[in-house]
Amino acid sequence: MRRMVAENRLHPADLILPAFVREGIGEPVAISAMPGVQQHTLETLRKAAVEAVEAGVAGIMLFGVPADEKKDAAGTAGTDPDGILQVALREVRAEVGDDLVIMSDLCLDEYTDHGHCGVLDADGRVDNDATLERYAEMAQVQADAGAHVVGPSGMMDGQVGVVRDALDTIGKEDVSILAYTAKYSSAFYGPFREAVGSSLRGDRKTYQQDPANLRESMRELALDLDEGADMVMVKPAGPYLDVLAKVAEAVDVPVAAYQISGEYAMIEAAAERGWIDREKAIMESLLGIKRAGANMILTYWATEVARGIGREG
Ligand code: PBG
Repeated sequence: MRRMVAENRLHPADLILPAFVREGIGEPVAISAMPGVQQHTLETLRKAAVEAVEAGVAGIMLFGVPADEKKDAAGTAGTDPDGILQVALREVRAEVGDDLVIMSDLCLDEYTDHGHCGVLDADGRVDNDATLERYAEMAQVQADAGAHVVGPSGMMDGQVGVVRDALDTIGKEDVSILAYTAKYSSAFYGPFREAVGSSLRGDRKTYQQDPANLRESMRELALDLDEGADMVMVKPAGPYLDVLAKVAEAVDVPVAAYQISGEYAMIEAAAERGWIDREKAIMESLLGIKRAGANMILTYWATEVARGIGREG
């Protein structure tokens, strides 16, 4: 009866798998702070995409990790049609077609030698408007490479509008925008920095949000919707369920939540020590995010969980 009257349940179609693909490696590279997650080769990425489809996962969010020598101040590899993310998008699209919603991270931090999400001005500060020009170009190469959805994640003001215009200009009106609307400057991104080989020193506090603020997220939300966001996201998920609930209540577009690297790492680490029940903790963490109002959840456990709930019905 408890099963029958449950107010919320997870479905494989709720889940989106974030995946990393690294240039110039012959074998996948394990990410030590995220046990079970790896930097893929193009070949293992294609395989992971097929496994996600078979498990019923809805989408995949791709992050490119360029070779170190390809990083520069402008993040050139991010707009190179032959850059690692664009190659990966083409290959995954060729492999799974429309069976998986293929999403791409639209941000410069993986490609810049200073590790910031944008280009810097003469004083070494992130230059918002100059960065928007780079994002416009990125949106176009990612859409050309086969992304169904682009996910601008750099938290520059005006990024959604600029990306929408850039896509429309090249006839990609059907490519959607998943806006990272409420993205907080979080300590829980720690393991991600290893995952993408980040060069960042310092922090992103001048463009990501202060964890103390809730109303600010509602302002970001209004701006993103006005600029043409098709879907909006709250990130991280677990420590920001109040933000998620408030956003979900306020909008009539689909709402995503990103269970990030640190949320993943904490459960894996505690489970490894026998301190918590791994499967139960994973399911509870995801159900909590669903209950708070997420239509879609980005989680590194997407394929595993989709397989599990598929079996139990
Ligand atoms: C920025 C980006 C980050 C994550 C996704 N996109 C890192 C950051 O903002 O510092 C973090 C994802 C995670 O921690 O799992 N391109």
